[in-house]
Amino acid sequence: MLIKYAQAVSCLAVTCAAEWVPRPTSAPETFPSAYIKYSTVLGLFLQDDNATVPGTFDYTATNFGLINRTYPTDTECDNSFTQWQKFEHYVDTLNIRSGKNVNYKVLFLGRHGEGYHNVAESYYGTPAWNCYWSIRDGNGTIVWADAKITLNGVAQAQKAADFWASRIKLQKIPVPQSYYVSPLTRCLQTANVTFSQLPLSPLHPFIPTVKELFREGISGHTCDRRGNKTYIHNAFPLYKIEAGFSEEDLLFKPLEGEVPTDQDIRSKTVLDDVFGSDGHTWLSVTSHSGEIASILRVLGHRIFSLNTGAVIPVLVKAETVSGTPVSTATVPYTTMSTCSTQPPLPIATS
Ligand SMILES: *[C@@H]1O[C@H](CO)[C@@H](O)[C@H](O)[C@H]1NC(C)=O
Ligand SMILES: *[C@@H]1O[C@H](CO)[C@@H](O)[C@H](O)[C@H]1NC(C)=O
Ligand SMILES: *[C@@H]1O[C@H](CO)[C@@H](O)[C@H](O)[C@H]1NC(C)=O
Ligand SMILES: *[C@@H]1O[C@H](CO)[C@@H](O)[C@H](O)[C@H]1NC(C)=O
Ligand SMILES: *[C@@H]1O[C@H](CO)[C@@H](O)[C@H](O)[C@H]1NC(C)=O
Repeated sequence: MLIKYAQAVSCLAVTCAAEWVPRPTSAPETFPSAYIKYSTVLGLFLQDDNATVPGTFDYTATNFGLINRTYPTDTECDNSFTQWQKFEHYVDTLNIRSGKNVNYKVLFLGRHGEGYHNVAESYYGTPAWNCYWSIRDGNGTIVWADAKITLNGVAQAQKAADFWASRIKLQKIPVPQSYYVSPLTRCLQTANVTFSQLPLSPLHPFIPTVKELFREGISGHTCDRRGNKTYIHNAFPLYKIEAGFSEEDLLFKPLEGEVPTDQDIRSKTVLDDVFGSDGHTWLSVTSHSGEIASILRVLGHRIFSLNTGAVIPVLVKAETVSGTPVSTATVPYTTMSTCSTQPPLPIATS
């Protein structure tokens, strides 16, 4: 933190007098009838722009999508600053100058690399996958329960690692100060491949916190059932597991799934938890397509589907506002529809 602060001060003539210390977003607990309202600051990343097509977007060809533009704080920066350094200074300044109930964070939301369940869904076709195969642990050849990443998935995570390394070298990008990860194996692995070999500051080492609620939509598919806490700890001994994390997966229910509105409610719960407890600005979250889509909804970001292994940065404004938040009443899981007989393989179209 101190080094981070010293760097910020070097181009901060106007604001360095402020006694600014990083702080988490004011938690609603301190204001009984208040809640955190999230929004996405627009105009900074190509991914915010309706004209950008998610399906063909390559974050590694576009500097993570950071738009080449000026910021109001550029005059405080040295001419040698890269786009990411100027952006870092802009965000730090937003935080210094914002009132105590407003806080900005940049989230790097990364989707896991390709898992065996992704391969199986493509192989069997989505209808047969959803109704028949997804509720099984595997097919005798491969296992997709709590799916691991494939070699292609490892390569996608390595591509993210190489891209981070190039941004550190060429752009002096602000690297994550905290890391969060879904408890599903494909994310635990992806985060490891992506971050464990990077030249990070000893102040902010790669020690991710495993958080239950960053998991994928809980669908009744065995790929969304997590391993027990002992397994996670033994497989990833350096990872920190959040307090209160249960030994067994208490959220997965065979043949039942959580509804999307409930997923958004728990995405907001986990964001409130992170924003309310983490004073850092630059955060990494390794999660899933469905869960990142839910997080983006909560943040008011446009829909932006990520390919396996892709990363999207979002500048988030979190405002603690008084009032009663919209209802957070959840509804029961709904029953999945399944088929009793094995559907035929899709007919090859090529
Ligand atoms: C982007 O699209 C959404 C939904 O169609 C629309 O509400 C929004 O105004 C658009 N934003 C811009 C900047 O055009
Ligand atoms: C910004 O400019 C650099 C070099 O001029 C280029 O490599 C990069 O892709 C550009 N970024 C965007 C988002 O256009
Ligand atoms: C199991 O699924 C994989 C693809 O996910 C496929 O390559 C393999 O042939 C399947 N095994 C059997 C026994 O059908
Ligand atoms: C973590 O990643 C490193 C380097 O990519 C690899 O050597 C190591 O086996 C991985 N550890 C786990 C637990 O996956
Ligand atoms: C945890 O899961 C592993 C398999 O992944 C199993 O071998 C072990 O018995 C389980 N431990 C407990 C305490 O249930």
